[in-house]
Amino acid sequence: MLEASRRWRREGKSIGLVPTMGALHAGHMGLVEAARGENDVVVVSVFVNPLQFGPNEDLDRYPRDWDRDAKMLREAEVDAVYRPTAEEMYPPDSSTRVHVSGVTDTLEGAARPGHFEGVATVVTKLLAAVQPDRAYFGQKDAQQVAVVRRLVRDLDLGVEIRVVPIVREPDGLALSSRNVYLSPAERCAAAGISAALREAAAAYGSGERDPIKLRAHIAGRLSLEPLVQVEYAELVDPATFQKPGTLAVIAVRVGKTRLIDNHDLAKPFPG
Ligand code: PAJ
Repeated sequence: MLEASRRWRREGKSIGLVPTMGALHAGHMGLVEAARGENDVVVVSVFVNPLQFGPNEDLDRYPRDWDRDAKMLREAEVDAVYRPTAEEMYPPDSSTRVHVSGVTDTLEGAARPGHFEGVATVVTKLLAAVQPDRAYFGQKDAQQVAVVRRLVRDLDLGVEIRVVPIVREPDGLALSSRNVYLSPAERCAAAGISAALREAAAAYGSGERDPIKLRAHIAGRLSLEPLVQVEYAELVDPATFQKPGTLAVIAVRVGKTRLIDNHDLAKPFPG
């Protein structure tokens, strides 16, 4: 990968990297499209990173369909796919981990101990291997964006981080590789998550600024869905992930499936 990257660099080509864990959907392809528009060469990495899954999480059953992913990436005319094995990424004697503190303490970081250390470590390694000018991340994982931004700044990695808006289903559900786990009834209930964000954005738009009341709007809407168990629903600052702020972040369980979503209430909800 590094050799290919150096060759492109010698040819004066700019490189865009889209890191993914595969099981590609239109959300991922939105990142690819953004990268296509801004770089000479687009590299997509496909790596289900064991380091970012907790011991009781879904690493073993995480959806993998390389043939389908390859077809989508071919059709999108990406220039290269970087698909290392877990053994290549983490040889048995590898012992370095990247830990970002502060922004990883709350919400996803608190709910999934070690998750962001896994993300920060793999993103650092992907950036080192691909040496891109720009790397593309989805707003879907808002706290991941904050972690990556901090990582790149603190370690002077010099890559430009580009953030792409959340791609949603017609009923508002944010696209996620984990949506395939949902039963039809759960899939239906999951639409309540984005509905809660939409209603809170509408309340904000009508002048409501009290974070307690905005949060109550979200909790109230989510409570209408008996299949949806709320893990957290908070209003935070998008850079620090500290309260208060206008970024509404939600994590829920629908049956066994954990889903996250977010929306900056200061902006109108799309659609
Ligand atoms: P993964 O969940 O495969 O997501 C890859 C990228 O796609 C992330 O930046 C994510 O935010 C973005 N994405 C997912 N669903 C989206 C949607 N509905 N709209 C817009 N963007 C969406 O996130 C990861 O993988 C990993 O943590 C990774 C960064 C690859 C490190 O292992």
